Amino acid sequence: MPMVGYLNGEYTADGLAQVPIDERGHQFGDGVYEVIRVYSGRLFLLDEHLQRLQRSLSAIGIENPHSLDEWREIVNEGVRRSMEPEAQVYLQVTRGVAVRAHLFPSTSPSVSMTVRPVRAPDVSPGALMCLPDERWANAYVKTINLLPNVIAKEAAHRANAIDALLVRNGMMREGSSTNMWFVRQGKIYTAPANRYILNGITRQFVLKLASQQGLTVCEQALSFNELSDIDEVFLTSTTQEIRPVERIFADETQMASLTHLPDDAPSSLLYRCDKPVELWNRTAPGPVTTLLQKAYSQAVENFRSYQEPLGTDNSLSVQDQNSKA
Ligand SMILES: Cc1ncc(COP(=O)(O)O)c(C=O)c1O
Repeated sequence: MPMVGYLNGEYTADGLAQVPIDERGHQFGDGVYEVIRVYSGRLFLLDEHLQRLQRSLSAIGIENPHSLDEWREIVNEGVRRSMEPEAQVYLQVTRGVAVRAHLFPSTSPSVSMTVRPVRAPDVSPGALMCLPDERWANAYVKTINLLPNVIAKEAAHRANAIDALLVRNGMMREGSSTNMWFVRQGKIYTAPANRYILNGITRQFVLKLASQQGLTVCEQALSFNELSDIDEVFLTSTTQEIRPVERIFADETQMASLTHLPDDAPSSLLYRCDKPVELWNRTAPGPVTTLLQKAYSQAVENFRSYQEPLGTDNSLSVQDQNSKA
């Protein structure tokens, strides 16, 4: 089955559920979302995603329309209907449907979901293009307002990079849809989970895996000027898992904006890379990246083979997964 859709209590086998034109997500981007990976028909880290959804909803003042148990039921039912063992769930909650006006309406939130099949991620090494982080100052909210992320990803893609490395005041924060990790002299660095990054569920899982492997992690942002001392770089996300990076570059005209955004409005935000400045390159993947990739794959394999019926507690800690294997 290609896709399952869900809108406010109704599942559609063909995914053709229609959203009303006065939907606030459509008109204002007034909502939040989650993307959850399904392995062997089971939702990976479901409760962690639902907790982050709650955090995003609270941040923007939308009342959570469902209890944890109701969410588990809705999402598991979507996965069951899709009959896809390898899938990705997209879950969105918006402030609802109301005649367009900025003030919050007194309507109920809208819930929509799709379940789509996915292939195993591409874990081949790729390049990153440094771009100024022009998002709002609340990147910890997983809002559906993704315009800056979309533009950055497209600019990076046009320059043959796999993602944009977003740099705010000189500090390397995260990717347009990924968290970033740097290895220096055996120590791992990743930006702290403050307002400037989305605290990835994969990030949190990899932090646990790293500690299990006896690796030291500093939750500290590094400046792009420190790149010359870096031995390995990798990125993480729900759909990309752990992907090594082999090269980081920026456009010469963008170098100043990485430390300080100029007041002048650019004519286009789709920054080109006409004069690439090479900032870093290594043969990827390095030993720490490989170790974590293996640990991640093993954790997923353990999760796949741990036979707990769907609808029960899917939120296994690293320890749980290993002990059940
Ligand atoms: C900006 C940003 N950072 C990081 C991530 C990775 O988060 P997760 O590991 O929960 O997929 C995402 C995922 O969409 C993202 O959009």
